[in-house]
Amino acid sequence: MIELIKSADDLARQKFDVFVPTMGALHAGHQSLIKLAKEKGDRVLVSIFVNPLQFENKDDLAKYPKTLDADLKLAEAAGATAVFAPSYEDVYPGEITKIEAGAIGNLYEGASRAGHFSGMLTVVKRLFDLVQPKIAIFGEKDFQQLFLIKQMVKELKLPIEIIAAPIIRESDGLAMSSRNVRLDEAGRKSSLIISKSLNENSITVMQKVLATEPGFTLDYLEIIDEDTFLPATSDSKNKRAIIAGWVNGVRLLDNKRMGATA
Ligand code: PAF
Repeated sequence: MIELIKSADDLARQKFDVFVPTMGALHAGHQSLIKLAKEKGDRVLVSIFVNPLQFENKDDLAKYPKTLDADLKLAEAAGATAVFAPSYEDVYPGEITKIEAGAIGNLYEGASRAGHFSGMLTVVKRLFDLVQPKIAIFGEKDFQQLFLIKQMVKELKLPIEIIAAPIIRESDGLAMSSRNVRLDEAGRKSSLIISKSLNENSITVMQKVLATEPGFTLDYLEIIDEDTFLPATSDSKNKRAIIAGWVNGVRLLDNKRMGATA
């Protein structure tokens, strides 16, 4: 049986090689991170903590799905050794030392979600301090989050290797997300326009494709340079299209390496 660790004190008695931080409501996307973690080390810890600091929208926080029993089963099936589900007091016992996300933290997701990245980095740093893993795995679905975490690890010289895991999609192309369960049937169909648009090779055509779906409201679409997270230029080695928008009031994100197939 998978072990459920509920407090920082209990966690402190154990060592884990690989860490997969999550906010729960686990799905096949998270399971792919856990499976990758298991390839990298024997003892894999999954954390489940819905971090209020990174929710600028209180409604989104209140509606965030909580499914601990199912999460334990999914984490175990994917190969996790233990799940760490701390309380708010365990994560934030005293005054909170906030990590700033810098200039890139104010772009794209950060422009629409004030304070989101600072809250996200603050909890990731705190969890890293508690768990002290050798390796941590994050999904490419939240590509800006992944970029900022790598930047933080570099700047703070944390002895942790960050490994990126590819996006896992539903069979019809929708990127897996814990928020997808909030889409109604019509919204679920509308959401497909996002991954469809990412099959195109230019931003103009992507815009046109997205505009054909009235159920989708675009927030941003950009082709960024993966090394700087700024708009790509002709010198950019690796370019990635990033998209965010809303369907049924549910925020959806996706991205894809330019020139990549499938
Ligand atoms: O990607 C997430 O689920 C969260 O942002 C993370 C990294 C677990 C921090 O709360």
